[in-house]
Amino acid sequence: MQKKSLTKKVYIKTYGCQMNVYDSNKMLDLLHALGYEQTGELENSDLVILNTCHIREKASEKVYSELGSIRKFKEKRKASGNEMLIAVAGCVSQAEGDEIFVRAPYVDIVVGPQTYHNLPELIAKVSRDKKIALNLDFPAISKFDSLPETSLPQGYTAFLTIQEGCDKFCKFCCVPYTRGAEYSRNLSEIYREALNLVEQGAIEITLLGQNVSAYHGRDYEGNEINIAKLIEHLAKIPNLQRIRYTTSHPNDMTEDLSLLHKNEPKLMPFLHLPVQSGSDKILKDMNRKHTAARYLEIIKQYREACPDILFSSDFIVGYPGETEQDFEDTMELVRQVGFSLSYSFKYSMRPGTPAAAIEKQVPEDIKVSRLERLQALLTGQQNQINKESIGKISSVLFEKPGKYAGQILGKNQYSQAVCVIGSKDLIGKILPVKVEAVNGTTLTGVLV
Ligand code: 5AD
Ligand code: SF4
Repeated sequence: MQKKSLTKKVYIKTYGCQMNVYDSNKMLDLLHALGYEQTGELENSDLVILNTCHIREKASEKVYSELGSIRKFKEKRKASGNEMLIAVAGCVSQAEGDEIFVRAPYVDIVVGPQTYHNLPELIAKVSRDKKIALNLDFPAISKFDSLPETSLPQGYTAFLTIQEGCDKFCKFCCVPYTRGAEYSRNLSEIYREALNLVEQGAIEITLLGQNVSAYHGRDYEGNEINIAKLIEHLAKIPNLQRIRYTTSHPNDMTEDLSLLHKNEPKLMPFLHLPVQSGSDKILKDMNRKHTAARYLEIIKQYREACPDILFSSDFIVGYPGETEQDFEDTMELVRQVGFSLSYSFKYSMRPGTPAAAIEKQVPEDIKVSRLERLQALLTGQQNQINKESIGKISSVLFEKPGKYAGQILGKNQYSQAVCVIGSKDLIGKILPVKVEAVNGTTLTGVLV
């Protein structure tokens, strides 16, 4: 095959979730075909892309301040006769729209999460016409149909988007507005992409989506399948050794998925299941459509099917109307489950979401204090669960060198970070490790 000549440089900065990481990789694939090579040097790039996140406050402010610094590099390049195109992609683009051109007139392209497959066209248009370009549609034809089938290698652990968008409309969340309605890709498309990733060297694939548990794509016969069936199909790919999925919603968790954790050795014993709150009143106000008791039932069901499974979750403290008792209900739910990992946030008003219009907002100092108390409890649980793995054998997929010389870092089946002293040859292998100690949030051990 003729080697492509890569004559231009693209710098891409990714904010937010793994979906954005996936989208950034896809943008790099597209641009590779146009002769762009990725660079870590912003100052020398022909194209700068900020792939942005809008989930919490200050995200857009961060983008504007970053754009301010990029502007200086653009001017410097212009002074030396070179061009630097600036593109803003992702959820801030979708939420802010052409307001970005008003606040940052040196931006050339604004593109949303559903339209970044048009980047090549937009770049050509901007270069040709010397005009700004905006594309924020929710197109009728899926962007997945227009993205290149083969991709640049992602490494031993790869991401694969299986569904996108969300129809749940939790009242605090901007995702249904920025990512749009729920859309599931079909099995044939996903299978092809998985095969391609494995051919490029991936041995672990994480299936991505805002709501992967709501997955309802079609199989080869045109029948609707759920995520459990999808995983069963993907598990047949011989060199694929590990499958994970994120993020799930309690209302879609089925028994067959819990049983797959028991019966499919390639499916890792780890579940990220956001609960947000342990108070039924707050869950109702959030429009979560599940109770704390239902959440605990699901945890029980998955633990019964797969006794060693570990759980992680997302929490919001200080949702409008949250009382001390509501917060205590969250603490109690945490005590009952025992999470190995978690993400907790102060409620942050998102313009245009229903919760932003509620008058009874919780004062900032109370949010801060509740977040501290919750995080202390969650960190304690994580430390305890990490300590319990001392003396046990973990199965570790080694991914990269660690912080210190000679260290190699990987993840075990439960998504815990594990580090050993060893050679770089370990990278890309799954090997048993005896855990000997815990260092911060990383387990350390020896190969057995
Ligand atoms: N404020 C705080 N946290 C939020 N999240 C989503 N929207 C908000 C918001 N407005 C959190 C939720 C979600 C995670 C991805 O981000 O916990 O599960
Ligand atoms: Fe947002 Fe998740 Fe709720 Fe959908 S289910 S609205 S993505 S928090």
